[in-house]
Amino acid sequence: MQQLSVQHLLGIKNITEEDIRLIFETADNFKEVINRPIKKVPSLRDITIANVFFENSTRTRLSFELAEKRLSADVINFSSSNSSVKKGETLLDTVNNILAMKVDMIVMRHSSPGAPHFLSRHIKANIVNAGDGTHEHPTQALLDAFSIRERLGDVGGKKVVIIGDILHSRVALSNIFALKKLGAEVMVCGPNTLLPRYITELGVKVELDVDKALKWCDVANVLRIQLERQQMKFFPSLREYSLYYGIDKARLQKVGKEIVVMHPGPINRGVELSSDVADAENAIILDQVENGVAVRMAVLYLLAGNKG
Ligand code: NCD
Repeated sequence: MQQLSVQHLLGIKNITEEDIRLIFETADNFKEVINRPIKKVPSLRDITIANVFFENSTRTRLSFELAEKRLSADVINFSSSNSSVKKGETLLDTVNNILAMKVDMIVMRHSSPGAPHFLSRHIKANIVNAGDGTHEHPTQALLDAFSIRERLGDVGGKKVVIIGDILHSRVALSNIFALKKLGAEVMVCGPNTLLPRYITELGVKVELDVDKALKWCDVANVLRIQLERQQMKFFPSLREYSLYYGIDKARLQKVGKEIVVMHPGPINRGVELSSDVADAENAIILDQVENGVAVRMAVLYLLAGNKG
């Protein structure tokens, strides 16, 4: 059996193009499985997975849990809001206590960049990063690239613009790494204050004018403004942001060609995307969600076969 080059999925930065292709081929098979009347396979029977979430989540947590259940793994869920973390326990103690109950894999979301990387140096169980602060969100980038491949046949050679709050977005960073590894051309677009200073060092184009960015691209991945991560004001108001960077029908019609529209969710309708665009045929937002389960099944299945 082909194996991943890593024991943990901490980010896209430290995996190879071959890893990504292996995950996609495995996800193709699982996508077929989850569209059957019986959606379950016994691949991870006897494996126990803990979903450890220190930050809010709807899609990602449900998607991981479904992926685990469809692989027949045993699943436990932990969320910090009603746990002993509130009583002052450290991250390592919390996780070691979970592992003492014979857990094999940890899926973790945490507000601190690097938290899963830190854990990976101290524990033996496989770790999947489900989002670490503003840093990486590798399974989101994998499902995004998988969805582009599904819609356009290939990621290589495609022009993808990521629009919005690049500075605070882990989705943006993981997407940039994944898309570049797969040979896409990548542009970021947003107000100057929401673009990281050294972003061009990642080999991406920068465009401040969203109309020009839309003219250039085949795919627009539109991000939410991460207000919860902003300690200062980066733009005057959401209304003004929406006026300059919000994607609506009129803006797309001016481009004169069809663009694939993506969004990782949750959408703030009327801010970064208008409802008529979010619900249009060329928006693949719900395909992304569907593909998320297959891609996460692939990641968990491949990591379980790779104990290091
Ligand atoms: C994203 C996240 O949590 O980073 N959502 C997700 O996982 N689908 C993006 C966001 O919160 O805007």
